[in-house]
Amino acid sequence: MTAVVTNFELIGGAPAVREAVRRFYDRLVADPELAGFFSGVDLATLKRHQVDLLSMVLGGPSNYTGRDLGEAHAHLAIDSQAYAKVGGHLVAVLAELGVPEHVIASVTETLTSVSPQIVTH
Ligand code: HEM
Repeated sequence: MTAVVTNFELIGGAPAVREAVRRFYDRLVADPELAGFFSGVDLATLKRHQVDLLSMVLGGPSNYTGRDLGEAHAHLAIDSQAYAKVGGHLVAVLAELGVPEHVIASVTETLTSVSPQIVTH
């Protein structure tokens, strides 16, 4: 019998996802081109939702209770440049944590597929 290992398990499960999300938002709020988007945002809730979303995308538990992505970003007027920068930070954090290339590629694929919901400007 072959055990099926999800990407979520492969990268170290919930602790690894939590660490990735922590580092991801540290980078976003430290980036002068992006910090403004997050001023006044409840980062604790945002991080919790992002952990749940990323866990689901990686084949882990499906506990996401945040808003639909289009709804969550509609008021932010995000352009493709800001989107690419945010995506770049996520990929950089995953690489920094030693996440295998093929797992990063699958996350990138998901990012590309949701971009029309987020980029409105
Ligand atoms: C790359 C793909 C992205 C994904 C998967 C994503 C995911 C999420 C999630 C799950 C939430 C929480 C929704 C909720 O709490 O109901 C959220 C909120 C938010 N995102 Fe994104 N996001 C992405 C791109 C971006 C970009 C490019 C920006 C800004 C340049 C951004 C800025 C924000 C802000 C400011 C919020 C909080 C909005 C609020 O609570 O008013 N996101 N995002």
